[in-house]
Amino acid sequence: MRIDVLTIFPDYLAPLELSLLGKARRDGLVDVRVHDLRDFTHDRHRTVDDSPLGGGAGMVMKPEPWAEALESVIAAGREELGDDAAPLIVFPNPAGAPFAQATAQSWSQRPWLLFACGRYEGIDERVYEHLAARGHELALASLGDYVLNGGEVAVLAITEAVVRLVPGVVGNAASLVEESHSDGLLEYPLYTRPATWTAPDGTVRAVPEILLSGDHARIAAWRAEQSRLRTAERRPDLLAPPAPGDAADTAPAS
Ligand code: ADE
Repeated sequence: MRIDVLTIFPDYLAPLELSLLGKARRDGLVDVRVHDLRDFTHDRHRTVDDSPLGGGAGMVMKPEPWAEALESVIAAGREELGDDAAPLIVFPNPAGAPFAQATAQSWSQRPWLLFACGRYEGIDERVYEHLAARGHELALASLGDYVLNGGEVAVLAITEAVVRLVPGVVGNAASLVEESHSDGLLEYPLYTRPATWTAPDGTVRAVPEILLSGDHARIAAWRAEQSRLRTAERRPDLLAPPAPGDAADTAPAS
């Protein structure tokens, strides 16, 4: 998988060198390139923003550096991946569609992701229009209903969620199947040895008996029930019945 990131703060993406992601890069499973948007400016101050037309607070990112940078990164990628290669261009944006595990699954199967990190109030709308008119595939992705200073932190989170799903990146693929959100529910509680643990305050805490039973079917049923209970308590929205008229509303009960 190829990942390009366009940002005015390339140093912000340094963690992409670390841990699982760094290893995936060294193993040749992902090819990550970080580019400085300011390299595509042509004035002495390397200006990337200006005040909003129509008035208002803050600054807006100018269209010229973005159009030039995206075009250049796409052309360079095509030189390596082939003329037909086409990235999914992802704009982290609090006004985007929520990024979720299903999004990570889908994007992990893409050969090429190009992240465009906005800053300030956002990017001039005509950049999106221009890219769409040129036939590019765009996605606006939100990490959640809060506002960050820019897209860089979102790119770190999204990249980690996506790359760990690329085959070969996580050693034990089975661990990806049972974790929170993989089946739409939160993961069941986890325990390890010692089976009986004396906490620092002297309380003896034993793991649930069933986990020591060796009865794999009963353990699986217990875990499924714990997942359901935990999801109902912490994230009832994940269990919400489909709205009337939803396609899923007509599915038979299971
Ligand atoms: N940029 C600023 N806030 C963001 C958010 N919540 N998600 C993604 N990108 C952002």
